[in-house]
Amino acid sequence: MSLDAIRSWVKEDMERVNALILSRLAADIPLIDSLSQHIVASGGKRIRPMVLLLTAKALNYRGDAQILLAAIIEFIHTATLLHDDVVDDSALRRGQSTANSIWGNEASVLVGDFLFSRAFQLMAEVNSLKVMSILATASNTIAKGEVLQLLNCHDTATDENRYFEVISAKTAKLFSAATQLAAVISEQDLKMENEMIAFGHHLGLAFQLVDDALDYQGDADTLGKNVGDDLAEGKPTLPLIYTLRVGNPEEQALIRAAIENGGSTYLNDIQQALIRNQAIEYTHRRAEEEVQAAIRALQNLPTSPYKDALLALANFTLSRSN
Ligand code: IPE
Ligand code: IPE
Ligand code: MG
Ligand code: MG
Repeated sequence: MSLDAIRSWVKEDMERVNALILSRLAADIPLIDSLSQHIVASGGKRIRPMVLLLTAKALNYRGDAQILLAAIIEFIHTATLLHDDVVDDSALRRGQSTANSIWGNEASVLVGDFLFSRAFQLMAEVNSLKVMSILATASNTIAKGEVLQLLNCHDTATDENRYFEVISAKTAKLFSAATQLAAVISEQDLKMENEMIAFGHHLGLAFQLVDDALDYQGDADTLGKNVGDDLAEGKPTLPLIYTLRVGNPEEQALIRAAIENGGSTYLNDIQQALIRNQAIEYTHRRAEEEVQAAIRALQNLPTSPYKDALLALANFTLSRSN
């Protein structure tokens, strides 16, 4: 099933989410309006809202709260992207110049704050302390993850545990918040709520693992982001961590220098070292394990086309090229 086919199961809800996002972007300040329009209108896969909507449907939810919650999740995601592109010094996002490269870092950080706080205004409208707590914790954990990642940059001692700690926080947490919210609004028992959290968590880990592989072997035109951004920042992601462990002494020295110094000078040599050591295959294997764990977490979910779409989404995570 393609992403479009998966999306078609929640087409009407997605249209409502997109309309809500657009209607709540406005700030009456031209810089905020044009910058936030730029990032929102440039698309994005809307995976996280889609996961929330599909999970709510699969749990047979009949109300209306999923629309606002899905919009909030996408607001938070968009805010973190604005900040992330400043921190990562990225120039391309969703196939377009990043906001920081057009308007500068200051504007991107501040409009990121605007979108974050807009998400909190929307949360207040939900009027549920449990929902508030899930989303506030998720936002806080993402921030923690990005800070932990900053601490790992240029540190060759970063191992797989530290890497997984970062991706759990910066990426998987928002996926698991989305699936947990679907369970909460549909009033599931704690067991099912925890199973939905587990699904989102493992899906999010797989998503970031593949993202980190694509940063070395993807194609910028398809990906909509530049390849080699992680290396340029000296970010020790799994392909590097693995090659540092299994490569020959020369390859280890190359990777150690790349993590310590950052930059793109050795991107090609590093890509060759990753190929020789099958580091991308290893990263994909780890992502497959996460997808298997995600699928197992859905075993008590009743059979439905929505469940099938969630399973297809888990598999899409592995095959995606953007
Ligand atoms: C990008 O997420 C950030 C990561 C967690 C890798 P997406 O790949 O979902 O970004 P968009 O929203 O589709 O642009
Ligand atoms: C994901 O990490 C960032 C957040 C979850 C905020 P990346 O830095 O890998 O995301 P991209 O590659 O810039 O989209
Ligand atoms: Mg980034
Ligand atoms: Mg990335």
